[in-house]
Amino acid sequence: MSLIYILNGPNLNLLGKRQPHIYGHETLADVEADCCRLASELGHDIRFHQSNREYEIIDWIHEAREDGAGIVINPAAFTHTSVAILDALNTFEQPVIEVHISNVHKREPFRHHSFVSHRADGVIAGLGTEGYQLAIRRVASLIEVAAKK
Ligand code: DQA
Repeated sequence: MSLIYILNGPNLNLLGKRQPHIYGHETLADVEADCCRLASELGHDIRFHQSNREYEIIDWIHEAREDGAGIVINPAAFTHTSVAILDALNTFEQPVIEVHISNVHKREPFRHHSFVSHRADGVIAGLGTEGYQLAIRRVASLIEVAAKK
């Protein structure tokens, strides 16, 4: 059994209430419950966190260096601004999948660049909250491949 970190950036605590025409009606608690269910089906544990503070996300990435087998991260607006989160992810040697609920490429030009994509092993955008499930499946299969080596 491995531990997968699922990290969420600013304003995602308002999921379900925030611009539902863009982000849908599911809350972050719904997303967490779905992630928990899938991870346990796949034989893994998750640590699910959200913060509006950049340093907390960095601290969780550092924590994942100690016991994490993979990271799924929706850095939200920090995607487009944070070299610090990119630097932290560059210290993490296991799989990293970046998730965006909306299709950032269909939106304002300032959302088209992601610092995190310089490190991510895969990027999922525009698949709604289902993107988290697909990211967990990908991390789980990368964990399996690494275990066979
Ligand atoms: C987001 C897209 C970002 O551009 C935005 O700042 C968010 C959410 C998404 O999940 O679609 O807060 O990461």
